[in-house]
Amino acid sequence: MRPTRDQAWETLTLYTKSEALRRHALAVEACLRFYARRFGEDEELWAVVGLLHDFDYEIHPTLDKHPQDGAPILRAEGYLEEVIEAVLSHAEHLGMPRDAPLKKALFACDELSGFVHACALVRPDGIGTLEPRSVRKKLKQPSFAAGVNREEVYRGAEELGLDLDEHIANVIAAMREIAPELGLRGAGPAKG
Ligand SMILES: [Fe+2]
Ligand SMILES: [Fe+2]
Repeated sequence: MRPTRDQAWETLTLYTKSEALRRHALAVEACLRFYARRFGEDEELWAVVGLLHDFDYEIHPTLDKHPQDGAPILRAEGYLEEVIEAVLSHAEHLGMPRDAPLKKALFACDELSGFVHACALVRPDGIGTLEPRSVRKKLKQPSFAAGVNREEVYRGAEELGLDLDEHIANVIAAMREIAPELGLRGAGPAKG
């Protein structure tokens, strides 16, 4: 059965009550939609993976369970193995090969979307005028959004085959489209 966005949202919200985690899922979904369109891939399938990649984090908040113990739940709900494999591949500790564009894009957008969110939160204009240059500057400040793994951000862009600035710009553009849902100011295309 082909998974739909509605089905993935239902699964996500069944297991994830935290607004922050739901917003993270929505941000990664938006980024994966952007790249699915860019690469001419299956946008709905990529959206489903974005929504689901951390669906079990609230019930499995440690790496001895997340995301591997979520896989049987997804399987029971009838998700394609392609979806489950992509979800599992975002976890560094599982050491799965990121051998498909969807897996590379998920890994590249996971940490960076969280970082961009943090950057947008501390600006009066939100994500509206946020630029890659200022994101890159903040990446070099270890105390800012310290939980974001810088090394994974840099490696993600590299594995995706994109210049970091270009990747950051894409993530910003994707998230700007759904800024209100992410609790961010500055929706729509940047002015000027
Ligand atoms: Fe995760
Ligand atoms: Fe994530």
